[in-house]
Amino acid sequence: MAKLELLYLSRRDIEVVNLGMYQIVQAVEGALREKGEGRVEMPPKPGVHPKADAFIHAMPAFIPQLGSVGVKWVSGFPENHKLGLPYISGLLILNDPDTGLPVAVMDCTWITAMRTGAATAVAAKYLAQRDSQILGILGCGVQGRSNLEALKVAFPGLQYVKAYDIHRANAEKYAQEMSEKLNVEVKVVISSEEAVRDADLVVTAGPISKYPNPVIEDEWFKPGGFACPVDFDSYWKPSVLHGADKFCTDDTDQLFYYRKEGYFQNIPEVYAHLGEIVAGKKRGREDEEERIISMNLGLALEDMAVGIEVYRRAKVQGIGTILPL
Ligand SMILES: NC(=O)c1ccc[n+]([C@@H]2O[C@H](COP(=O)([O-])OP(=O)(O)OC[C@H]3O[C@@H](n4cnc5c(N)ncnc54)[C@H](O)[C@@H]3O)[C@@H](O)[C@H]2O)c1
Repeated sequence: MAKLELLYLSRRDIEVVNLGMYQIVQAVEGALREKGEGRVEMPPKPGVHPKADAFIHAMPAFIPQLGSVGVKWVSGFPENHKLGLPYISGLLILNDPDTGLPVAVMDCTWITAMRTGAATAVAAKYLAQRDSQILGILGCGVQGRSNLEALKVAFPGLQYVKAYDIHRANAEKYAQEMSEKLNVEVKVVISSEEAVRDADLVVTAGPISKYPNPVIEDEWFKPGGFACPVDFDSYWKPSVLHGADKFCTDDTDQLFYYRKEGYFQNIPEVYAHLGEIVAGKKRGREDEEERIISMNLGLALEDMAVGIEVYRRAKVQGIGTILPL
């Protein structure tokens, strides 16, 4: 009988594999196209909630085209920063699509950060103005970083970032780090309003709240602007969401599932999910004045698209620890 074993990849191992953001954006775009063509299996993610505003989600998906199937078990605990622990943590398991046997277990924090940024970049590629130059980032943490990195891949002309964080020191650190890393000008701003006004692209990445107290006003969001709230509707007043010309999401079923759970109680009708737009079944941006929001909830298929690539490269490079099953 064959030896039953799997490859374990730590966070460090995954960083050593060093899959680039360009490849990650390509992988996420390809997976969304497969979704738009109806060729993936991905039920809405169920969750358990050990603390208020905390979650642990089970996220399974199967992408036949990539031979990738598995599940991510990911938690988000907003108070973790007080313990010096990350907001998001978890594990990703890949299975062999022919036998169902687990072939890999890996840390999912890096993959979650990168694929979420990549999904923003793919959404922006179809829904933002091509010559977007100014980005507003609200929440200068892990997502604030990966979203900027991915947007810079999709919009090489991106020149200027307005960074806002409720903790100014986080924004200062972000500005220094990201301007050096990506060669863009990053200016710390002192209010949410300043970050949003005049921005071509806006990403909000603060904590998710089930019963939010949003602050972003409709008049702050400029004509022609594009926004990706990765923190759901926590930052955006219902008037802005309803005022958008197109309100999109990465997965309509997931959005409805969340609504049943008590989230998203005041959102407009969904124009399209990203898969439909990437697959060419629905139009993306149609004119320069449209204001478009893509409410990206985070999809298991994005994790499986990136996870399989990390796994294959790790095997070729001999990275990771082989464990008996
Ligand atoms: N949609 C998705 O696919 C997806 C995936 C992963 C994470 N997320 C969400 O992204 C958000 C950020 O996650 P992270 O890992 O970057 O967390 P993080 O803790 O690394 O960063 C959060 C940052 O937001 C700042 N912040 C807190 N309240 C704020 C406010 N009111 N205004 C501005 N800044 C504020 C914090 O000081 C911190 O710097 C979380 O809500 C998380 O659940 C979404």
